[in-house]
Amino acid sequence: MITQQIPHATTVSALRARVRSWRDDRLTVGLVPTMGALHDGHLSLVRLARAQCDRVVTSIFVNPKQFAPGEDLDAYPRTLMEDAEKLTDAKCDLIYLPTPDIMYPTGFSATVALKGPALGLESDIRPHFFDGVATVVAKLFNQVRPDMAFFGEKDYQQLLVIRQLVKDLDFPIEILAGATGRDKDGLALSSRNAYLNADERARAGQLNVILKDLATSLQGGTDRKTAEATAIKACQNAFDSVDYIEARCANTLAVLGDGPIAAPTRVLAAVRLGSTRLIDNMAANPPS
Ligand code: PAF
Repeated sequence: MITQQIPHATTVSALRARVRSWRDDRLTVGLVPTMGALHDGHLSLVRLARAQCDRVVTSIFVNPKQFAPGEDLDAYPRTLMEDAEKLTDAKCDLIYLPTPDIMYPTGFSATVALKGPALGLESDIRPHFFDGVATVVAKLFNQVRPDMAFFGEKDYQQLLVIRQLVKDLDFPIEILAGATGRDKDGLALSSRNAYLNADERARAGQLNVILKDLATSLQGGTDRKTAEATAIKACQNAFDSVDYIEARCANTLAVLGDGPIAAPTRVLAAVRLGSTRLIDNMAANPPS
């Protein structure tokens, strides 16, 4: 029993019974999929869902399919009691807490795989990642059958992958994005920030500064490759290693041509600090 305060369901049938009773009352349902270790970024998605829908389900499931062997599946923070309290305060109506056996029973054999926005960037470094995300999100969509689902812009490539999934597979679900929550120094809120030691945490805010500089430089008309080269150098100086820092088409994540940007652009980065991988992104609009 996780909490007396907020209802929770651990099986698909219990989840569906609850959602069906809301549907019988003609109430709309929003889903906020999470892996738990909730921070204010997640809670702002719950608040957004509250504002848009009559009832809100938050799922908490650390999805093994989006971790490769050797990644941080076992170390990933699990803080269920605190999460339940936060969700109670945020007026979530139901926590859905499936177990790995419920999500992936023996013999489970489906994989949802996308190309398009899933290609490159994160996939170059974590090739298993978007198949795992798309598979679990497709299952969550079918299990909950929400009217709307809410995802953070912090995982911008994931957001575009999920929009593509909904479009390609005709899920009757509207996807809404929440702005990235940030600490005072600009560091994007992430459950993995818990891995940073004090020295690393002091350095981590640099990623936001470097991305801002890159966006400003592109918006000022600097050639894309030149602006990216400056940003790569800045990241190499600030962090232990750099997975990528790039400007891409904001709508499709397609690689951009040379020269100044000419259409809505997104700058995206992933770097490493000790054992922690930081990712972040922001918009850059073409010079007017
Ligand atoms: O962004 C996350 O926390 C996860 O990738 C998601 C969407 C909940 C799927 O496991």
